[in-house]
Amino acid sequence: MTLLITGGEVVGPTGRFAADVLVDGETISALLAPGTWSGQPETTIDATGKLVIPGGIDVHTHMKLPFGGTFASDDFDTGTKAAAYGGTTTIIDFAVQRTGEVVQDGLAAWHALADGNAHIDYGFHMIIGGVDDDALKAMDQLVADEGVTSFKLFMAYPGVFYSDDGKVLRAMQTARENGATIMMHAENGIAIDVLVAQALAKGQTDPVFHGLTRPSILEGEATHRAIALAQVARDTPLYFVHLSASEALAEVAAARDAGRNVFAETCPQYLYLTLEDQLGAPGFEGAKWVASPPLRSKEEPHRDDLWRGLRTNDLAIVSTDHCPFCMKDQKELGLGDFSKIPNGMGTVEHRVDLVYQGVAEGKLSVERWVETIATTPARMFGLYPRKGVIAPGSDADIVLYDPNGRTTISAATHHMNLDYSAWEGFTIAGKVDTVISRGEVLVDRDGGYHGRKGRGRYLKRGLSSYLR
Ligand code: URP
Ligand code: ZN
Ligand code: ZN
Ligand code: ZN
Repeated sequence: MTLLITGGEVVGPTGRFAADVLVDGETISALLAPGTWSGQPETTIDATGKLVIPGGIDVHTHMKLPFGGTFASDDFDTGTKAAAYGGTTTIIDFAVQRTGEVVQDGLAAWHALADGNAHIDYGFHMIIGGVDDDALKAMDQLVADEGVTSFKLFMAYPGVFYSDDGKVLRAMQTARENGATIMMHAENGIAIDVLVAQALAKGQTDPVFHGLTRPSILEGEATHRAIALAQVARDTPLYFVHLSASEALAEVAAARDAGRNVFAETCPQYLYLTLEDQLGAPGFEGAKWVASPPLRSKEEPHRDDLWRGLRTNDLAIVSTDHCPFCMKDQKELGLGDFSKIPNGMGTVEHRVDLVYQGVAEGKLSVERWVETIATTPARMFGLYPRKGVIAPGSDADIVLYDPNGRTTISAATHHMNLDYSAWEGFTIAGKVDTVISRGEVLVDRDGGYHGRKGRGRYLKRGLSSYLR
């Protein structure tokens, strides 16, 4: 089965150039000067006027995550299909171990959720919610045998996923030995719980108080502490997830300037949405945007700083933290008590577009867009060069993107299993045109869907390219 993509402009982190892309079966076999291939492809796709980019890689999703007595509303079927519509052809989801559970059981449970259901390829990180001797041994085994090479720890959510500093340090020391990356949810959860209890005691129950009880300085403080602990653990690679605050970014930038092996991602919600305009919406409406860390104040420079961090590489990746909960019956669990609103929003379908909007607005180069949504995600999490690049031998995960198209986001048209959109009415000066996964067209130019559940494969990942 040969496929020739003609007339497009291939984009990677180091540049863009006119080329035809030849796909043989599931992989890319050649990049050719335009119009020079003399063979007869079985299929040709005309990419004139389109950007030809590696399929998006979203390294932070939570299909079916249990949270606050309910489960994230997308499963591996609905969530990965929605991802495909949005130009994402690989996700890395978080398998979960809670205190007292066996790590390998948590991993097996996640395989059971994904097996036979995913439309696109997927890997797993592991949440370690109960650091103890057995869990540390399990980390070694997952790295050695299971292709799980990154572990998320929480400095937030006491009593749920929380690790104290001693546990964080022990997990970091284990990672230093086995080569894994530690992913950190950096918020001071102990202090936050005090502020939450004080707010509720005063009758402050609206969603906006979720944000006001999680001040940005407590993300900065936890970020600083994690960097110090990682230094004690002989500079184990440390990756901050869903970084939202200027204070946290300053800590990451200082650590990187000092030569530390520290990395961070941010998410579209922190680049665009705010505590006042979304989380502070009247009544219970703000529940749509309850996530942790919370949306930050527009009176402070967080959003501008995050865009700058993306340009300077202090922020290496944009992921979504896709963790959708419907308003009906799910977010509503927190009516009258913001602390009971399940945390998270749904964005897996929109990340490629939302970051492209930064290109349209002159905030990022088109090369940097590709780097932050596909190439660095692959390199950071051991998928490169199989994924994240348009090159001979790589999987033929390819998106044609139309810079002259237009996308309007709405719950009425999205494909996520979610009864609202955190992005309702947002318009993007660009459009996903065609989505190809391992040589198969999943989404065509007319929006026709040709994927199917179960075609996505589990990806055993290697160690990070940034390990040193
Ligand atoms: O609010 C969020 N972020 N929910 C998902 C869990 C997490 O902390 O990533
Ligand atoms: Zn988190
Ligand atoms: Zn998350
Ligand atoms: Zn079609």
